[in-house]
Amino acid sequence: MSQEFSPPTSEWYYPSDAVKKQAIVSDYEALYRKSMADIEAFWDEQAQKLHWFEPWEKVLDTSDAPFYKWFVGGKTNIAYNALDRHVKTWRRNKLAIIWEGEPGDKQTYSYWRLWREVNKCANVLKSLGVKKGDRVTIYMGRIPELVISMLACAKIGAVHSVVYGGFSEHALADRIEDAQSKVLITADGAWLRGNIVKLKDIVDEAVHRSPIVESVLVVKRTGHDVKMQQGRDYWYHDLMGLPIASPQCETTVMDAEDPLFILYTSGTTGKPKGILHTHGGYSVYTSTTLQWVFDVKDDDRYWCAADPGWITGHSYIVYAPLIIGATEIIYEGAPNHPYPDRWWRLVAEYGVTILYTAPTAIRGLMRFGDAWPNRHDLSSIRLLGSVGEPINPEAWRWFHKVIGKEKSPIMDTWWQTETGGFMIAPMPSVPLKPGSGTRPFPGIEADVVDEHGVSCPPGVDGNLVIKGPWPGMLRTIYGDPERFKKQYFSAYEKQGWYLTGDSARKDEDGYFWIIGRNDDVIKVSGYRLGTAEVESGLVSHPAVAEAAAIGVPDDVRGNVIYAYCMLKAGVTGSPELVDALKDHIRHEIGPIAVPTKIEFVTALPKTRSGKIMRRVLKARATGAPEGDLSTLEE
Ligand code: WT7
Repeated sequence: MSQEFSPPTSEWYYPSDAVKKQAIVSDYEALYRKSMADIEAFWDEQAQKLHWFEPWEKVLDTSDAPFYKWFVGGKTNIAYNALDRHVKTWRRNKLAIIWEGEPGDKQTYSYWRLWREVNKCANVLKSLGVKKGDRVTIYMGRIPELVISMLACAKIGAVHSVVYGGFSEHALADRIEDAQSKVLITADGAWLRGNIVKLKDIVDEAVHRSPIVESVLVVKRTGHDVKMQQGRDYWYHDLMGLPIASPQCETTVMDAEDPLFILYTSGTTGKPKGILHTHGGYSVYTSTTLQWVFDVKDDDRYWCAADPGWITGHSYIVYAPLIIGATEIIYEGAPNHPYPDRWWRLVAEYGVTILYTAPTAIRGLMRFGDAWPNRHDLSSIRLLGSVGEPINPEAWRWFHKVIGKEKSPIMDTWWQTETGGFMIAPMPSVPLKPGSGTRPFPGIEADVVDEHGVSCPPGVDGNLVIKGPWPGMLRTIYGDPERFKKQYFSAYEKQGWYLTGDSARKDEDGYFWIIGRNDDVIKVSGYRLGTAEVESGLVSHPAVAEAAAIGVPDDVRGNVIYAYCMLKAGVTGSPELVDALKDHIRHEIGPIAVPTKIEFVTALPKTRSGKIMRRVLKARATGAPEGDLSTLEE
């Protein structure tokens, strides 16, 4: 299933009466119409469901568009909504997080316990000099302390920048540098498939490159020997045991538009973009979308199997589930460790009712056959979810039949780091078509348009755009407001529309079908990578003069990367050099960016103006027609 597969658009799956009866939203059409009739009134109503220290004066301020402001003048704090308000109710004793480590160790956090840990951690951060507005970089595996430190930052108004634990020392250093973080929170290591990923060693390298970091807080997870630098490095458990780490901590009152976090993502240049989200609008948007799309109730056991280090985890593990007071599962390790039924074991053991994952994981687990899931009681599942890339109908049907037992609708959620939350997604009461995210969320006007902004008729590909602002939208690219304007709002400047970077088509029923990225972004196993990032990684190696990277369809990972390198004069290609280059990328970016194939070439196809024609390389790699070559340089 490539980025460009064409699924059938006529296969319908209707929700059962049981599903429809318990759905929070029973009539999508009516709700959507109501939301579009008065978008501000609609969001006003949703925002009322949260706690505000002071109400807003205005729902939406468009005066400085595209720098939109939501809930202007409102005072809140996302951590207050996620924790403080629950511990004042019966929910204080409800489980917030059920965590299982890869080696099999377990931890549970009630809202009360989580609130106390977050308060203690917030006080520790304060003792390290962290103040409102300061950036804190977090680099850890999937352990409770990751969630705790994110919430602790939010609580005191610090801006977290979580860097996924699979990124290398260079990628980490770049992100520390861009955010100018003086404090970094990490762990000694992380468990992955029975091995230790030595996070602290990577941090030491990164801090060596970005010496702006003054303090490093280290959670002991794997317990192997690590170097601790006196005066800079502190054990988390040591500081959490000091009187300074009181379990009482006042929540900082934040303006709705105050920054909550920066999350780096790939774009069309080699430099990752720091996507900035805020306290107010993001709280409203993520909690509303989760509650309605996944129909989360108090007795659910919700499991989003993503990593908190990506936007899916930020929005739908750390913030939204806690805001709505849910009980969730977090699992540290790999889905197939020690056996390919680890996930199904977890579902059965904890009685998971909602499981939200990615097509690449579904395809990976599908390969092991039905016997692994069939060995476990998966009857607790009532809803499934998919995110990250288009789901091919074959994987959809397997997920629906073998995991969901044909009674659990699949919520295929289309969204992006930039959008903060679901944009095109069904709700349980909406009839489904495998491979389509169905229709836009209430309050969202999505369309497929041509380059002039004219709506494409059904079945015709075009650019997916969002025609108006929404509370969860990114506010800027950190430190680069010009790039924000140019990247997202220049293609349809006159109309003021947001450009998603995806190509899509609508069908006769108004359902949206995502085709894939139409910029130089590749989705590898659902991870987002820029061709330019991989290319600049390659040319930073002394043997490489020029490089081009492309995404090539792959059955399990969606896409894999192929790279073409022109070597410097006097250097000859060899299998050893291929290995050396792969290793180099592993250190420059991380294992996820390593090309599956590296080929040495004597020239790259370029336009006369010198731009690499990746389209030509891609056509050759996939055996597709090369298309119009008139701009190709001789
Ligand atoms: C890109 C955004 C948002 C969470 C994870 C990804 C692709 C995402 C779907 C889906 C088809 C999807 C798009 C989008 N994408 N979800 N359900 N169907 N494509 O966030 O890393 O910012 O990537 O992922 O191409 O633009 P991200």
